[in-house]
This record gives sequence, structure tokens and C-alpha cells, in this order.
Amino acid sequence: MPTVTFHKQGQTFVDEVKPQTNLVVRAGIRQFPYPNLRYECGMGKCSKCACRVIAGAEHLPPPNWKEKKQLGERLEQGYRLACQLWIEHDIELAQDDLPAQAPAIVATAGADV
Ligand code: FES
Repeated sequence: MPTVTFHKQGQTFVDEVKPQTNLVVRAGIRQFPYPNLRYECGMGKCSKCACRVIAGAEHLPPPNWKEKKQLGERLEQGYRLACQLWIEHDIELAQDDLPAQAPAIVATAGADV
């Protein structure tokens, strides 16, 4: 069973999930990482579920078009949309306090620092 490590606001939450688990779906039925995972639409439209992948990114499929559209430059910084991921391997994620809908142009400005 995949182990999910989830960092939020300085806290770390760890639990095992079944293979092919979607964390937003789980949060929606009040299972880990509920209530700590921020999300809204569950459909790749709002980017509120954006998480930075700290470990395990190599096991994830390439970003889909929704992730490319919502995350833009943040994809290169390791961000993914949790609602678009079906977890099959151990993964470590962090959800930072980012603007809910940072447009790509804002991410570009930050990336130059
Ligand atoms: S919950 Fe809206 S994009 Fe993931």
C-alpha cells in the first residue's frame, strides 16, 4: 500500500492509502488527508489542490492538459494537481500557502529569483 506523507503549515501527516487513490476524492469523504488538504472543484479547474511533490514524482504519469493549463511554470517547480493524481506508489507532498489561482505570469516572475 502506498504511503502518503503530506506537509501543511509546518505539520506532517502520514497515512497509507489503497493503490489508485485520489487524495481529493478521499478528502471528499473525510478520510486522510482530510481536513488538511485544500481543494475545491476536484476537476482540475481551480488549482486549489496544487501540491509540491517532494518525493515520488518519478512514479507519477506526466501532467495532463488540465495540470499544464492550471499550473504553467509551477509544473517545473514540482507542483501537481492532487485531484488529477491517482497514487500508486509512496509519495511525499507539501501544500504551501500559494495564491489559489496564481496565473502562469506570476509564477514566471517568482521563478527568476
Ligand atoms: S481541486 Fe480544483 S484543480 Fe484540483
